[in-house]
Amino acid sequence: MTSLRRAASVDDYRELARRRLPKIFFEYIDGGSYAEVTLKRNVEDLANLVLRQRVMRDMSDLDTAIETLGQRYRMPVGLSPVGMAGMYGRRGEVQAARAAASAGVPFCLSTMGICGVEEVARTGVPPWFQLYVLKDRGYMRELLRQARAAGSPVLVLTVDLPLPGARYRDVRSGFRGLTGLRAFFNQAQDGLTHPRWLWDVWMNGRPHSLGSVAGALQSGGGAGDFLTWIAKNFDRSLNWADLDWVRAAWDGPLVIKGVLDREDARDAVKAGAQGLVVSNHGGRQLDGVRSSISALPPIADAVGSDLELYLDGGVRSGLDVLKACALGAKACFVGRAWAYALGAGGQAAVARMLETLRAELEVAMVLTGCRSIRDAGRDLLDRELLHHQ
Ligand code: FNR
Repeated sequence: MTSLRRAASVDDYRELARRRLPKIFFEYIDGGSYAEVTLKRNVEDLANLVLRQRVMRDMSDLDTAIETLGQRYRMPVGLSPVGMAGMYGRRGEVQAARAAASAGVPFCLSTMGICGVEEVARTGVPPWFQLYVLKDRGYMRELLRQARAAGSPVLVLTVDLPLPGARYRDVRSGFRGLTGLRAFFNQAQDGLTHPRWLWDVWMNGRPHSLGSVAGALQSGGGAGDFLTWIAKNFDRSLNWADLDWVRAAWDGPLVIKGVLDREDARDAVKAGAQGLVVSNHGGRQLDGVRSSISALPPIADAVGSDLELYLDGGVRSGLDVLKACALGAKACFVGRAWAYALGAGGQAAVARMLETLRAELEVAMVLTGCRSIRDAGRDLLDRELLHHQ
């Protein structure tokens, strides 16, 4: 069995997280919605893209750095917003933010983080801030004020979760649906059988309330009841006109996350967004939709020069990062990859996972003749073998 020191790939961190985390949290991270067709598609469609090997091109100078939305990063990778990371590692958002800062990449803090934006900003590098739109707009404005005050450079507005997708694994694990004593005993048994987690996170990682929304949760912000709370409080009336009040409360760069369709991408440009994350929420929302990577080329053709295009969904290696950049992404974000690493071994494991992505990206660049990631284009891929265009 893989030990942390021998973890070489995202799959290895996944296996370690599976052993170390209580079942409810591992299944929550690992799972998608319904039969998980889109979750698999995200990974498989990236794997099926074929890189064009090029040789003998003097690749001694390699540049993986990017500039985006006024920030400079060491490589085109960022950490996607992931809810409740503070349940996968002690003050998990802070650990991940530190790992991201040391790797020179952005960390995006979820509205559903255990740590709030001020706590994460105290690491010295304020995070990008991800916003879910709740019915209580006054509270939304207050969250944006806090993010601004903490120095967040970018707002990421997630638009593909007006309600949560049906995630069968959360029901089967008892994360969703159980109440009262049944929930208590299920969680107690789950926790007690994972003593390392119990000590690190349960005993020493408190408070476990959702830092940013604890004030809006009447029940006190406990992680256990948050899925029910999402279903009640997220706002299905969300539409492009809402960007007016978002804009009034946020004057910095705005990124829309969760677009798969080129018409929606055009609307995001019209609405004045500076960036777009091509994303299906990691296959956790509407199952059966296309993979993020297959949605990218048409969106890049439609709006690629009008805003910053990012991609998330299925990115598990540095090869995937290069493939996404070749098809028009300025950068990729990873969700599960860092959540697994955090569960497997905290900040050090997240930092190592990022270092691995970077090393793999460099190999891919050298052997495709791509000197600067900013010049990555479709010529890096074997066109005849391009799938799903
Ligand atoms: C997410 N995602 C997510 N997105 C978001 O905007 N706000 C959130 O709070 C969360 N929470 C969350 C929790 C967990 C456990 C996962 C796995 C994902 C979606 C996330 O930002 C991203 O879109 C996907 O994770 C990308 O797919 P991969 O990299 O996980 O395949």
